[in-house]
Amino acid sequence: MVTVAQLETDPHPTLAQVRPIGWIEALNSWVVTSRALALAVLRDPDTFTVDDPRFSTAQVVGPSMLSLDGGPHKAHRDPFESPFTLAETRRRFTGPVQQTVDELMAALKQPSDLRTALAGPLSVAVVALSLGLPPASASTVLDWYTAISTSVSGVSAGHPITAEGTAAFAELHKHVAAGIDSADSLIATAAHAGLGVDEVVANAAVLMFGGIETTEGMITNALWHLLSHRDQLDLVLADPSLLPNAMEESLRLEPAAAVVDRYATRDIDLAGTKIRRGDMVTVSLAGAGRDPEVFESPDKFDVRRANARRHLAFASGPHICLGMHLTRLETLTALEAVVRLPGLQLAADSPPPTGLVFRKPTALNVSWDE
Ligand code: HEM
Repeated sequence: MVTVAQLETDPHPTLAQVRPIGWIEALNSWVVTSRALALAVLRDPDTFTVDDPRFSTAQVVGPSMLSLDGGPHKAHRDPFESPFTLAETRRRFTGPVQQTVDELMAALKQPSDLRTALAGPLSVAVVALSLGLPPASASTVLDWYTAISTSVSGVSAGHPITAEGTAAFAELHKHVAAGIDSADSLIATAAHAGLGVDEVVANAAVLMFGGIETTEGMITNALWHLLSHRDQLDLVLADPSLLPNAMEESLRLEPAAAVVDRYATRDIDLAGTKIRRGDMVTVSLAGAGRDPEVFESPDKFDVRRANARRHLAFASGPHICLGMHLTRLETLTALEAVVRLPGLQLAADSPPPTGLVFRKPTALNVSWDE
């Protein structure tokens, strides 16, 4: 029987075995691994909802777009749509993202772990900015995130909400609420579109949950794929216009958020499998990305793959990632800067991506020619 440890290390052989859908006892859940079935689940929120008391994030930060469906989901999400469009993302974030990457690159010392020296700090600084806080408050934001996410993990395991989690959320609440009246913040835009203070704060917490570990993972995974496939990196160096597709190809092979959970609201037949009302249904975005019906030689990293963008790393349907334009902007800016380092090398002991939900290498150890 497959164990959680096996899924954390290398889930892909198991996912291939259970395609298109199978029960995985270690997760106590159905796991959907074909792209077509994943889309069917993600686009049917009436049958497969996120709105279930087992969803631990909502217990800690209150109801938000991440934990609601139908009309209430729309009410929470709509105010954030306009600040996160492609055009608005570029207008608001291109300059600050470039500046943050430049500063982090200038501070790099050899040898370097690019996860902790670049990917992590960049993702936190940008979330701080989107919360209307100055980049200097990045370490505070990281402390809040750590305290709240530890509390959420504890609740998932059946423990009560931690005092640290409650205190951090109170701090976040204070700062975000204070920023609502400031001129051009993204939070202010959302608040003016009609959300109450508690609702703005809960969704701000979700921006933090959505934007930190995932972006850190997306950047680290893309760099790991490029540096551990020298021939593919050489293609990108010879033709830098391949870099965006290389990023998509990395998302396909190792989506930073590998799974999303849903709960069946009624008995239903899914590709011949009987799902019971109340069952948990885990959509494996990693499985969908390696579906051989859609992607030829699905395990191969190919920066020229024509349909790489058909991955589901940002999900689909009503909960499709709100921050996808922003995180692509961050990742591409970081990748462009890093691949320019002459003679860039991955250390032989640099680890591959691991993790059950958030998958990334724990470190990305590199050196280059000065
Ligand atoms: C700037 C960075 C990011 C921000 C601000 C952000 C924000 C969000 C928000 C607010 C949602 C909830 C949308 C809703 O429920 O309606 C969401 C969903 C999602 N995001 Fe992101 N995100 C970011 C980066 C990423 C990255 C890097 C990935 C993966 C590579 C990712 C994957 C997802 C997925 C899979 C969902 C769907 C969750 C579900 O269906 O249950 N996000 N994101």
